[in-house]
Amino acid sequence: MQIHSSIADLRAALKNRGRIVFVPTMGNLHAGHISLMTQARGHGNTVVASLFVNRLQFGPNEDFDSYPRTFDADCEKLRAASVDVLFAPTERDLYPEPQQYHVAPPEIQNQLEGEFRPGHFRGVATVVLKLFNIVQPQVALFGKKDYQQLMVLRNMTRQLALPIDIVGGETVRAADGLALSSRNGYLSATERAEAPRLYRTLNSIYEAVRSGEQDFAKLERAAAATLDAQGWKTDYVAVRQQSDLQAPQPENHSLVVLAASRLGTTRLLDNIEI
Ligand code: PAF
Repeated sequence: MQIHSSIADLRAALKNRGRIVFVPTMGNLHAGHISLMTQARGHGNTVVASLFVNRLQFGPNEDFDSYPRTFDADCEKLRAASVDVLFAPTERDLYPEPQQYHVAPPEIQNQLEGEFRPGHFRGVATVVLKLFNIVQPQVALFGKKDYQQLMVLRNMTRQLALPIDIVGGETVRAADGLALSSRNGYLSATERAEAPRLYRTLNSIYEAVRSGEQDFAKLERAAAATLDAQGWKTDYVAVRQQSDLQAPQPENHSLVVLAASRLGTTRLLDNIEI
């Protein structure tokens, strides 16, 4: 696996490489990331991963400084997954001058995750557009675990007419249902035992909607109350349309239920497509 930190070196290394498939990450890789790398192989000739903890998408009180940085272990995993090229820029490589031009996603950037993480999707969209311009892939993969991120990036790519196919990878779960996430490492043993309740709670909404329940607000309130009664602090549980994450229209049957809730100091996200 080639590793490049400079934009110029990466561009030179990617000349005449055929169809490039790109998996951007912030590192601290787990089986969810590796499953994206494995899927990537089926979409083209050259698999490129990036590893960059992007300051722009963290709020002032978030975990940018403490975000787990595990470069050597990540490289081993990427090599084992047969990734061809890793782009691992420093902040100076990617932001040699303060980034003054940004991508402004539409109103959805202020809802769901955006309500609790102001500026997050602006930071994500900006770095991903910049990475797309550097790597120039034909295909890019993102996990469905960050469902709103996937939707924002898919819509950005379409509306800006970028010649890139966006592919969503299924969420990878531990045996007890907990969605794999780099932030699961923050959980204490007791919290880790409690954490699968989030997936179980979403599953109960999935079952209720599949059985014909239409009062989504009631389901959302009950789910948040179930979690909070067990010591969680729920930011939202929401049934939305898959395409734009707006409130479901009566004729729309492609729904997704999303939630974010805090267990101790760890904020967990999950979702299930209905
Ligand atoms: O999902 C992530 O790891 C990040 O948000 C991404 C897409 C790599 C942008 O920094």
